[in-house]
Amino acid sequence: MSLLSATLLGTHFANPLLNASGVHCRFNTELDELAASAAGSLVTKSCTVLARDGNPEPRYFATPLGSINSMGLPNAGYQYYLDYAKAYDYAAGKPLLFSVAGLSLEDNLTMLAAIKAAATPAIVELNLSCPNVPGKPQIAYDFAAMDRMLDAVSRDYALPFGVKMPPYFDIAHFDEAAAILNKYPLVAFVTCINSIGNALVIDTETESVVIKPKDGFGGIGGDYVLPTALANVNAFYRRCPAKQIIGCGGVKTGEHVFMHLLAGASLVQVGTALYEEGPGIFTRLNAELTTILQRKGYQSLDEVRGKLRTL
Ligand SMILES: Cc1cc2nc3c(=O)[nH]c(=O)nc-3n(C[C@H](O)[C@H](O)[C@H](O)COP(=O)(O)O)c2cc1C
Repeated sequence: MSLLSATLLGTHFANPLLNASGVHCRFNTELDELAASAAGSLVTKSCTVLARDGNPEPRYFATPLGSINSMGLPNAGYQYYLDYAKAYDYAAGKPLLFSVAGLSLEDNLTMLAAIKAAATPAIVELNLSCPNVPGKPQIAYDFAAMDRMLDAVSRDYALPFGVKMPPYFDIAHFDEAAAILNKYPLVAFVTCINSIGNALVIDTETESVVIKPKDGFGGIGGDYVLPTALANVNAFYRRCPAKQIIGCGGVKTGEHVFMHLLAGASLVQVGTALYEEGPGIFTRLNAELTTILQRKGYQSLDEVRGKLRTL
């Protein structure tokens, strides 16, 4: 056991870092670059049954404080990522996570049946920050739909899996979401958070929005979201003691990784900062995290996880 080693679902990870789904993981070449990087694992782009081109460009824009995007789930279709998962070299020691984002319950069941049949060691992260019925909020903001989804997936897939959650902003919503997740023991981990949805970035020179889809509205990541991400990690860590938490949101330095660990994260994903810096970021983050842990005299991540003090 080295200083940075981590576990999820009983699987060993050399370090807690990986990409956030959607960043540097749409194509095999990008996934291979993550596999070759200092990341401890990697997750595939959220997939749908059929390949999608996604929304018109520009659809991602970086600012000094983070990013805004409205990608529209551009992906190569689940079969492409399943082929990758089948050919993947698990023996090299870097676990693979498989992000699934069906446009309906039926689509998710179709994809999960194929993933289950392939029987690879890849770990499913089911993206619940996904479109629902038009006119209804995304699945994770429609608690009845989320309950039905988890019930059906637990029944059909019947293997441990994780869920990728959007941020919540109200204690009553933390309570309700966690109570639903806790009904399903096969929900083994909870990834918090997806982008904060439907924000608007404005360029004052051009007096314009900065991305084309949805009149400029899009999900934000990066510095903008770190405190919200930490709150969601900690809220679910406290409420879901039988589950593990993957932290995601606003991570740009080893100190940010350390904050996510204190809040309760077992693994930590990097989105916007990876987009901006490339896979070399994992070498820097591991080094910065190691420096902090050594300065504080920690011997393992277990000693840090969830140890956030309150006043
Ligand atoms: C370009 C881009 C594409 C994304 N695509 C997905 C996706 O396919 N599935 C998903 O669960 N999250 C997706 N996200 C959200 C990220 O995984 C992450 O939750 C969010 O950006 C917050 O992390 P960050 O602050 O490190 O960027 C995407 C984010 C970006 C910037």
